[in-house]
Parts: sequence; structure tokens; C-alpha cells
Amino acid sequence: EAHKDSSPPEYDFVVVSNRLPVDCTVEADGSLTWKRSPGGLVTALEPVMRAADGAWVGWAGRPDLEVAPFQQDGIQIVPVPLSSQDIEEYYEGFSNDTLWPLYHDVIATPAYHREWWDDYVAVNQRFADAAAAISADGAVVWVQDYQLQLVPRMLREKRPDLTIGFFNHIPFPPYGIFAQLPWRTQIIEGMLGADVVGFQRSSDASNFSSAVRRLTNHPTKNPAIEVTLDGQPTRRVVAKAFPISIDSRSFEEMARDPAIQQRAREIRKGLGNPKTVMLGVDRLDYTKGIRHRLKAYGELFRDGAIEVGDVALIQVANPSRERVEAYIKLRDEIELTVGRINGEYSTFSHSPVNYLHQGFPREEMVALYLAADVLLVTALRDGMNLVAKEYVATRFDNDGVLILSEFAGASEELRKAILINPHDIDGLKEAIMRAINMPKVERTTRMRSMRKRVLEHDVARWSNAFLKNLAATRSDRHRRIAP
Ligand code: F6P
Repeated sequence: EAHKDSSPPEYDFVVVSNRLPVDCTVEADGSLTWKRSPGGLVTALEPVMRAADGAWVGWAGRPDLEVAPFQQDGIQIVPVPLSSQDIEEYYEGFSNDTLWPLYHDVIATPAYHREWWDDYVAVNQRFADAAAAISADGAVVWVQDYQLQLVPRMLREKRPDLTIGFFNHIPFPPYGIFAQLPWRTQIIEGMLGADVVGFQRSSDASNFSSAVRRLTNHPTKNPAIEVTLDGQPTRRVVAKAFPISIDSRSFEEMARDPAIQQRAREIRKGLGNPKTVMLGVDRLDYTKGIRHRLKAYGELFRDGAIEVGDVALIQVANPSRERVEAYIKLRDEIELTVGRINGEYSTFSHSPVNYLHQGFPREEMVALYLAADVLLVTALRDGMNLVAKEYVATRFDNDGVLILSEFAGASEELRKAILINPHDIDGLKEAIMRAINMPKVERTTRMRSMRKRVLEHDVARWSNAFLKNLAATRSDRHRRIAP
């Protein structure tokens, strides 16, 4: 028994992501408290974690924080420390100033720095080591997102017994863009350490397969890739789409709460009960097309197509990656534009734009979704866009109009939205007018069809589908080892 107590704990299901599913706050006395962060991923994986003896490996969101592993809401939390230099080079640098713009169609110019890459490799190794140290023999390890693309291969080298999944939450770019990356082959080989590589859209999966064909000698036959060593096939990797979703029922449940409905009425009243409330909710990011949206909206006032008091826009812009240059610049541009529109068209009692550079709890977001006649999603490129799905899940009254960019992954599923090209400002203006004037019957038909999709395809269905595919590769492997 003594031996058992001192042996390291071993987990059968391990999730690895850049951020942990808990947020840490430092109390006045210097002690730390942890609160579960509201993401859908945690909600989806919690039952799997409980059933399978699960652990979550990730960063606690603050520099130089060394914390011992602990249990929270039935999940074993294993913090990986990042130094201030790691935050600058691995997180703000390589993840968010190299990979992020490169994978989002180079909307901003990616920066390539060798020191950033070196730290990305070092931090990925640290995450891989942490996961390897706590995984039981034959465990399933699921690695999340672009910050950790080297982890699958690093893990496989240390622990060939593991079944490894990787899911890329953001787009995977066409080869003509991906090819810019000086470390493109290492990234591809890193991801191929997984048994299943999942993407949001099938076009992301096929972009990945093209990159495999261009950069390696591994034969591909969709959705499979035969990883070869010295020309000999060693194992098979599956690369395909698993569109992520949200915890749809919980949004609907909240929306049915009378207190939240009351809050929605208060929000409208606070705006002076305009005929149409429009809403934008985004991390303040250049991929979201906030400037395009504001341009179209401002021009509608200039044209006299809409009037202050009749129409109001709430724009929630969640602060994000605030030390990265492109984000600092974008914030200035957006705030200048908002100031100009409001300066031009406000009255003493009403303003065209209510701009909030803040984050809000989920209850308040649901009240906002209920208060909004129109939700504007104008992303220039977006892996999925869960805000679109949250709006739809909230609207149990089958009302509300969704304007949705064709460049967001969600547009593949939400075909009954008003689909737009955010670069086409005139088209966007027409879409806004169409949304404002859409008859109730049409709003209901469209919303009902979108709700069916989002309620049936929730995040639990997403994780089950991924994990089922992952389990299938394991039995396939065993069959091939011992036919
Ligand atoms: O899915 C995209 C993503 O980058 C996640 O990996 C991330 O947790 C989220 O958006 C928010 O970004 P960040 O963690 O950089 O604040």
C-alpha cells in the first residue's frame, strides 16, 4: 500500500490544452482560488473525465505560477508553468503572432522569428512531458489546438502505448499560405504523431492532407494517411472534420429563466426601446470583421436608411491578447470608428453604437441574445464561431435573425442564416436592411431550422464522435499488430 501511495497517479483519459478549464484569481491575502471557466469544451468532457479517471493538463493563465496538481469538480488539474518569456515567445509570439494570422488567411502579416519557434518547441515538449508523466498505460490523450501542434509526436516518441487525438480549433490554411512557414514540415510531422487529427471543416482536413502530400512521402488516401518510416508503412492517421458545437440545452434553459428574460427587457429599455436591436459579440480580434461591420452600419446612417433611436447596435468586444501589436492597433481603429459614428449621429438621448470593451458572464450574454433582433457575425475567417450557435440555441421563441459570414465554419451548418461576404460592404448593408425588415413568418422558419441543427449537434455529440473515431483507430492498430 505504501508503494501505491507514493507512485505517481495515472490517468486513463488526459486532455492537453494551452489554457486549463479553470481560471485562477489571487485573493487579497495572496491565496489562489480557482473557478471553472465557462467554455463548452469542459462541459462536454466533464462526463467523460468522471467516467474514465481523467486529468487536464494546461497553463493557469498567469506568468511564473508553479502550482501542484489538484482536484476541481471531479477533474484532476495539472498546471504547466509558463515564464514571462514563454508568454512572450511561445504564446503571444509564435502562437498568436505567427500561427494565428497565418492560419487565418494572413489577414494580418505573420511574423517569423527563430527564437519564438525555439520556445514553441520547448514549451510543447514541457506539455508533452507533463502529459506523458501522468498517463496510464494505454491511456487516451486528447491534445487541443494550434498552440500544441508538436505535442502529438513528442508524446508518441515517449509513450508509443498511448492513443493520441489532436483537434485543431482554428482553420487550417491552403498550402499556398501554409508554405510560408519556415517550420512547416516539423508542424506537419508533429500533428501526424496523433492517431486522429480533427478539423472544423472538411476543407481544413483536405488542406492538411495536401500539406502532407507536398511536404512528406507519406501516402494519403482520404481520410487516411499512411505514416511511413524508410518507405515502410508504420501506422495510419485519420484526418477529418468534426465541427465543434456548444452545450445547446444549457443556453436554452437559461433563456427560459424569467429573471433572464426580465434582464433582456431591461437592456432594451436602457437603449430607449428601439425598434431594432442589433448585436455583435466577439473577442477583439482582426479575424472577426468588426471594422467591416461598423463601416456598413455607419454608412446606413449616412444614407438615411436607418435612424438613431430606431436602430441600436450593441458591440461587445472581449479584451484579448492585449500585448500583441496587431491587437493594440485594431483596438485603436475600432474605437476611433465607434467614436466617429457616435459623434456624427448621436442625439442627447440615443447613440447608434453601444461599445463595450469588456467580458460578461454567461447569464448576461443570454439576456443580450434574447434582447437582440439581429446578431451580426461578420468574421473574415473563423474556425467555427460559437457565438452564432449560442444565439440560435438561446432563441427558444424562434425569433431573431442571424447574419453570418460565409468565412465562418458555422456557415456550413447554419444554412438558413442570411449568409454574407463581409468584404462586400454593399452586400452587408443589404443584408442588414433585409434582417431589419424580415417578416415574422420568415424569421420563424429560418430560426426553427437552425435551432434543430444546433440542438441536435451539440458539443457532447462532437466529443463523442471524435473519441469514437479515436477508439476505432486503437482497435484497428491492435488488429494490424496481431492479425
Ligand atoms: O479556438 C481558438 C482559441 O485560440 C483557443 O485556443 C483559445 O483558448 C481561445 O481561442 C481564446 O484565445 P486565448 O486563449 O489566446 O485568449
